[in-house]
Amino acid sequence: MTTQRTLSIIKPDATRRNLTGAINNTIEKAGLKIVAQKRMHLTEEQAKQFYAVHKERPFYNDLVQFMISGPVVVQVLEANDAVTKYRDVMGATNPANAAEGTIRKQFAESIEANSVHGSDSAENAAKEVSFFFSEIEIAA
Ligand code: CMP
Repeated sequence: MTTQRTLSIIKPDATRRNLTGAINNTIEKAGLKIVAQKRMHLTEEQAKQFYAVHKERPFYNDLVQFMISGPVVVQVLEANDAVTKYRDVMGATNPANAAEGTIRKQFAESIEANSVHGSDSAENAAKEVSFFFSEIEIAA
C-alpha cells in the first residue's frame, strides 16, 4: 500500500472545548502525519457544498447549521492506508457505538456533535482535500 491522504475536520464541538491538541495527539500517536492544517469558520454555502452528498438526509440542515456554529480545523492526514486508518482512529459515527480509545469515544458529544469528520473513500478523500487545500499548502 502506498502513501495515501485523507481529509479530516475537527468540528465546532471540539474547537469550542479547546480539544484541537488532544485530537491531534491521538492522530499522531496512531501514525498519521498532519501534512496541512488550517482553522477557519465555514460559511453556510461552504458547509452546504461540502456535505451536498447528504442533502436528502433528514439531518442535513441541522448538520450544516452545526458546522457553521463555530470554527473548524481542516487537515490533510498522510499515512499508508490513511482513509481506513483514520476511520479506525475516529471510531463509529455515533459515539455510543465507538470503541475505547477512539477520538469519538473520548471526545464526541452526540451523533451530530461527533468532534471529527474523515473521508470515507480514497476517491472522496481526493475531492475533499482539493475542496479545502491547494497542493502548495501541503507539505509532507
Ligand atoms: P460525518 O462523518 O461528518 O458525516 C456526516 C455527518 O452527519 C456525520 O459525521 C454526523 O456528524 C452527522 N449526522 C447527524 N445525524 C446523523 C445520522 N443520523 N446518521 C449519520 N450521520 C449523522
